[in-house]
Amino acid sequence: MIDTWLTRELGLEVPIVGAPMGGRAGGRLAGEVTRAGGLGLLGAARYATPEWIAAESAVARELGGGKLGVGLMTWSLYDDDALLDAAIGEEPDVISLSFGDPAPFVPRAKACGALVGSQINTIEDLRVVEAAGVDFVVAQGTEAGGHTGRIGTLPLLQQILEATDLPVIAAGGIATGRGLAAVIAAGAAGGWIGTALLASPETTGPDFARQRLVEADSADTVYTSIFDQARDQPWPQRWGGRALVNAYTERWHGQGADNATLAAAYDPADTTVGVVYAGEAAGLVTSVRPAGDVVREIGADAERLLRRTY
Ligand SMILES: Cc1cc2nc3c(=O)[nH]c(=O)nc-3n(C[C@H](O)[C@H](O)[C@H](O)COP(=O)(O)O)c2cc1C
Repeated sequence: MIDTWLTRELGLEVPIVGAPMGGRAGGRLAGEVTRAGGLGLLGAARYATPEWIAAESAVARELGGGKLGVGLMTWSLYDDDALLDAAIGEEPDVISLSFGDPAPFVPRAKACGALVGSQINTIEDLRVVEAAGVDFVVAQGTEAGGHTGRIGTLPLLQQILEATDLPVIAAGGIATGRGLAAVIAAGAAGGWIGTALLASPETTGPDFARQRLVEADSADTVYTSIFDQARDQPWPQRWGGRALVNAYTERWHGQGADNATLAAAYDPADTTVGVVYAGEAAGLVTSVRPAGDVVREIGADAERLLRRTY
């Protein structure tokens, strides 16, 4: 067993967190990741409801033997923090508050007994979340699927590990035992894994998303804000989202079109146009596989690699 701060603190068999992924990670996915020995997080999208959190938490706990993690988008709580109240009400093991300054929310989140962490994309972000009092940080590289920053996982991870005494988890591009072994050897407490789980049958979202991911190569992603503009998602400008390229990104990415034009051209149900957020690990996802198998294989392969002597 790989023994890290993450496995010790949460009683995990593998140092893997199933990333919170809005629209894709509900109770089934989170629960299966936990059942396989990691910790799966629910991904509460901006349009999620307190009722969704309650229902999906029950599913995740049932499958995962009682453990629970919930991921929220910090900036979306500034106007209305009902989703945070709902998450706190579940008394989860972990609450992730990512993308924005979590200071107004950390004391309440910690008071329910959860470990509280934030994904960060720069050294400046590290200083902000340290001041807010988080228990751990997640160094999220630009390779990651979904919304992320602009620095690659490896340079960012090295910078963050040098700059803090907090436990650091690595996110972005980890999809095999080699990736997990690499970040643990560097000093990370574990891997925060999204894209590798996205072709699993336990994900929510449209069927075409799984198929498109299986067919995609690692070069087939783009970092863009056009899907946020098309759907009027008020993401702060500094965070773009990494998605698979499609006919829509080829037509509109980098064209400077306004929200109304982008919205008029957008149809989420059209398989050639609808967004499929995924990271540069896309080329490592080559079949539809149960999430538990993915987690167990990454964990076992990483352990074997880390035991190798040179
Ligand atoms: C489809 C998708 C949706 C995501 N939604 C969220 C989210 O709601 N909240 C969040 O904190 N991170 C979100 N992320 C980012 C992940 O938490 C994580 O950083 C990322 O998946 C890790 O990189 P990887 O995809 O290369 O494994 C999302 C990622 C993806 C792929």
